[in-house]
Amino acid sequence: MNMHSADADTAEEALAVQERMDSDKATSMAMEETLLSPRFYTTDFEEMDAINVESVRADWDNLISSMVSDPNKGHFKKNEAWDDVDWDGMEPTLRKEFIDFLVSSCTSEFSGCVLYKEMKRRGNNKDITQLFQLMARDEARHAGFINDALREAGVAVNLGFLTQKKKYTYFRPKFIYYATYLSEKIGYARYITIYRHLECHPELRFHPIFKWFKEWCNDEFSHGEAFALLMKTDPKLTKGVNVFWIKFFLTAVYATMYVRDHQRPAFHKALRIDPSEYGQEVFAKTSELSRQIFPITLDIDNPRWLKNLEKMNKANMVLGNVANRKGIGPAMIRFGARLRAGLAFVSLIIIPSKSNIVPESTRLEPVY
Ligand SMILES: [Fe+2]
Ligand SMILES: [Fe+2]
Repeated sequence: MNMHSADADTAEEALAVQERMDSDKATSMAMEETLLSPRFYTTDFEEMDAINVESVRADWDNLISSMVSDPNKGHFKKNEAWDDVDWDGMEPTLRKEFIDFLVSSCTSEFSGCVLYKEMKRRGNNKDITQLFQLMARDEARHAGFINDALREAGVAVNLGFLTQKKKYTYFRPKFIYYATYLSEKIGYARYITIYRHLECHPELRFHPIFKWFKEWCNDEFSHGEAFALLMKTDPKLTKGVNVFWIKFFLTAVYATMYVRDHQRPAFHKALRIDPSEYGQEVFAKTSELSRQIFPITLDIDNPRWLKNLEKMNKANMVLGNVANRKGIGPAMIRFGARLRAGLAFVSLIIIPSKSNIVPESTRLEPVY
């Protein structure tokens, strides 16, 4: 059987195809557990299984039927548009950062797949299990496609090994909603911003995978829509103390992206993208989208915003410089850097947010 993960109808089929070549190096990168590296999550699946979507039924059925129609089936595989990639001729720093970008993206995609697949497996609620099966299908294809690209560079992530060995972080369902909703929507905003930029500057497209970003981000957009509807079923999730949690997750997700992107200067230079400007553009798009469900948005134009993101970034660079050094000196440096990063995060989170009146229906279409 010569099936490709792009043609698979379920996550299980797609992953079976991927269980071939992989490499220890890429897998150990994906196994890394730092504050910034993508995590695997587990949650209270019973609580999630008890969700009743009747209050959003019309929007729900619409969304599910578009996902069932599967417009991207067969899309995530190499075809004639896939140009030859000169991995050996690639500037070494760019090559290293780009592989890091692909491994980290593959891990994030796969993290979604594992969580969604598990919800499908554990649940009995037909609406919920159907949604999670569809989302797991998409994420398995995305992860598989990135692994195809990595294989050409002689590295690929062992997804089966990751499932068994990577540490799982437990999040209560409501935290899963906030974190996953945001990661889907910010994923959409990131991919579409790069795609539109390269549409204007095709000469900067140093790898063919960017050509696939448009359909890709539409999948992420739908996944975000699903989480918005799930949150809509329970008004408590976006009220009271939960507004603080929403602010916390918005700040953490944006700050993580900012710091992580600044770790890849050669990658952004090759695309002629300034990571700070790119960050602001992605935050603005994500904030605009998140007004469909969140009662607040962050004030990213506040002068303290970029200033403190930059402080976190500097502290993170210091941490990177002393990462493998032992002894009291490096330990003190690490302590100081963590303290500065923590204080900068507090400064970010106390910037007053902007309030937002949430619309009756959450449904949006991808317009960027
Ligand atoms: Fe994805
Ligand atoms: Fe997704």
